[in-house]
Amino acid sequence: MENKYLRLENISKVFNLKTTKGTALNQISYQFEAGKFYPIIGQSGSGKSTLISILGLYLVNII
Ligand SMILES: Nc1ncnc2c1ncn2[C@@H]1O[C@H](COP(=O)(O)OP(=O)(O)OP(=O)(O)O)[C@@H](O)[C@H]1O
Ligand SMILES: [Mg+2]
Repeated sequence: MENKYLRLENISKVFNLKTTKGTALNQISYQFEAGKFYPIIGQSGSGKSTLISILGLYLVNII
């Protein structure tokens, strides 16, 4: 059967505000395989919610 996956290639996200400019994600590449579970771990502000949002998986603001 064909392998299914969700792949990110060189994804960056910069929040460009009037007062501050911050890089939330800096050239992220990763391949998520279908059927597996992936914990997204990191300190506050490391970009977890931004990553999940870009993946289209940010459904409810509980993360
Ligand atoms: N809407 C936004 N406008 C401006 N900056 C933002 C916005 N959302 C996130 N950021 C910035 O992007 C960076 C990553 O934020 P993000 O919310 O993705 O981190 P996080 O890992 O989910 O943090 P936490 O564990 O606190 O939920 C932080 O520096 C944050 O201040
Ligand atoms: Mg978060």
